[in-house]
Amino acid sequence: MMRPGTGRDGREHTGGVSSLIVRPSGPLQGAIPIGGAKNSVLKLMAATVLAEGDYVLRNVPDIADVGWMGELLEHMGLTVERGDHEMAIHSPADVTPEAPYELVEKMRASIVVLGPLLARFGEARVALPGGDDFGSRPIDMHLKALEALGAEVGMEHGYVTARAAQLTGARILLEFPSVGATENALMAAVLAKGTTVIDNAAREPELADLATLLNRMGAQIRGAGSSTITVEGVESLHPVEHTVVADRIEAATYLAAVGIAGGEVTLQGAVPDHMTMLVQKVGEMGMRCSPDGGGLWALARPPLRSVDVSTLPYPGLATDYKPLLVAMLAVADGVGIVTENLFAGRFRYVDELVRMGADIRTESHHAVVRGVPRLSGAPVRAPDIRAGAALAIAGLAAEGETVVADADHIDRGYEDFVGKLTAVGADVERID
Ligand code: EPU
Repeated sequence: MMRPGTGRDGREHTGGVSSLIVRPSGPLQGAIPIGGAKNSVLKLMAATVLAEGDYVLRNVPDIADVGWMGELLEHMGLTVERGDHEMAIHSPADVTPEAPYELVEKMRASIVVLGPLLARFGEARVALPGGDDFGSRPIDMHLKALEALGAEVGMEHGYVTARAAQLTGARILLEFPSVGATENALMAAVLAKGTTVIDNAAREPELADLATLLNRMGAQIRGAGSSTITVEGVESLHPVEHTVVADRIEAATYLAAVGIAGGEVTLQGAVPDHMTMLVQKVGEMGMRCSPDGGGLWALARPPLRSVDVSTLPYPGLATDYKPLLVAMLAVADGVGIVTENLFAGRFRYVDELVRMGADIRTESHHAVVRGVPRLSGAPVRAPDIRAGAALAIAGLAAEGETVVADADHIDRGYEDFVGKLTAVGADVERID
């Protein structure tokens, strides 16, 4: 029932056809609802491969990547029905344990079906994801983790193949707390025989959300959200209903919009405990934030003060926050040094910000951002989801019009980006 790359509204997200026009705006005022996390829901959907039956996911964001993951599940033989922020998934007794290149190429997160397919069906065939706009993104740690559990891993015709009659619990020491490798290892270990210990595991809230779903399905996982996760393998799992955790990156995006345009906005449904490092950082920049009922209240009176920023795995400052922080620093008072520790090439959008009058120099994985009082609207291009959003919000503090081309990248991770911004007084419009 799902068409490739369409949202629940049936709108096509084929890439490159729409633009956003942003004009100077602010102060922003009001409330923005924060949806379910993209980087959680995609993995929760993959986890439904682990047990036959009917699942319901709630707080599902209406974004293009959810459409792509639904398409992948349907390719494998599952049934996916989308309602109003809800999704019903039927996982049959047998599936085609394969993720084809056409879908993996669209969405790199498809690689997370490898672990659950292998665990339940003893085999999996997943196209190797290529690089993307922020550089080469290897999956060696995913594969080593599955090998540690006893899988035979190979590579043929651009596909990773994995086989194991029965996975066996093992100690997995990750070289780096990779989110995807931890998720694949976890979803494989839940049905392995015996105990698995994942050390140096990723600690992201979305990973903890996945472990919560798996435990409800009957898995025995302890320590998710810490760097040591212990899994006692079980023989089988069962389907459940689950509500997706709030998207801290979406919340961070609108927080940055307030920082740039000024104003007072409540991010309804955001979980401040998942964003403490960011809240501390924007506090140093002069913003005020506090938990507010079921969300996060934020106030800013520009100009903000510059700070240094260094990305790290959770609970450090997320690499996904970085383009947003760079956009804030571009109009802050002073000089900030930004260091990217996760993805080597994740500075492409900087050239676009420079076209808007930002004063930024990059050198390897560092950027030096000298704040300017005002940016100048220009035609720019969204290179990926987060950078696209960052360019759009930078336009809120730019004289004249900023036109962000390839805005479809933004739709991959943001539901109703334009509607949410205009609701708090931003002057943003979409042209198809
Ligand atoms: N890495 C390896 N080998 C591996 C796996 C990772 O060298 O086998 C390296 C990567 O190249 C990178 C670092 O380890 O340098 C971290 O990668 P990680 O595996 O943690 O990232 P991911 O699981 O591929 C997720 C998010 C990203 C987010 C990163 C980091 C999803 C779908 N994606 O990617 O989010 O930037 O974690 O937090 O969960 C986005 O939402 O736009 C996005 C890109």
